[in-house]
Amino acid sequence: MTGTPGRGNEWDSALYDRALGVVTRLGSGVLELLDPKPGERILDLGCGTGHLTAEIAAYGADVLGLDAAESMIARARALYPRLRFEVGRGADFRLDAPVDAVFSNAALHWMPRPADVAANVARALRPGGRFAAEMGGKGNVSSLIAAVHQALREEGVGAERLPEPWYFPSVGEYATLLEGAGFEVRYAHLFDRPTPLDDCPNGAADWLRVFGGAFLAVVPPERQEAVIARATMLVRPAWYRDDRWVADYRRLRFLAIKRGGGARAPGIGARGGRRIRRSRAGRAR
Ligand code: BEZ
Repeated sequence: MTGTPGRGNEWDSALYDRALGVVTRLGSGVLELLDPKPGERILDLGCGTGHLTAEIAAYGADVLGLDAAESMIARARALYPRLRFEVGRGADFRLDAPVDAVFSNAALHWMPRPADVAANVARALRPGGRFAAEMGGKGNVSSLIAAVHQALREEGVGAERLPEPWYFPSVGEYATLLEGAGFEVRYAHLFDRPTPLDDCPNGAADWLRVFGGAFLAVVPPERQEAVIARATMLVRPAWYRDDRWVADYRRLRFLAIKRGGGARAPGIGARGGRRIRRSRAGRAR
């Protein structure tokens, strides 16, 4: 998790967990793609509050969680005191030694300078190491973005000031970027994942309060609630169905291997690691 959060300057990490815990729950599919093995050194890039970092640790891997938001790292450390978490940004973090894998869920789309992020991830990996991730893909939350842009235009915000806070690439665009950074792309899939917002009683309004800071920052504070209300009304036909708020998420999931590893690099579905039983503290047992 990186980038401009809700209306303050820092992430409200507890609110994030309460309202958007679904993000973590839906991250389990990409964990299978990562296929962590006992003893592997793994970086969780954009770890947020550390829940998936703990799941990776439960496989017996030696995992480090990294996030640009200090509030997220503070909460992750409080929740999982036995695990390692550090503050760092995708484009310029540095590690002491190369890792076997880099994992990322729902975070890469927040990171500015995506080509630098991919190059930096490649630098952090050993040759043959894997980059397994899921992020928002092309078209992600497009109804919401259109609704907020319209609400902002109605407030007098000019086209040149309409924020585009996230990077949601297509398969072709991101695979090209990964190849340019020295990866071989083994798998890439863009798919719809309509995501119920059952923990957000006010639907799109709650979502915008957690994630929409960049949009709200372009209007005066006293107009922000009006923008939230108007955007929520505009997106309602797309997001409110059968008495439920459902966000139009689209995911880009991929597995890429850092070139230079010879035949050791695994493909999708490679297995070998014994699943380690989890403890509540996120320790492998
Ligand atoms: C996402 O996970 O797709 C996402 C989350 C927050 C803001 C934008 C996208």
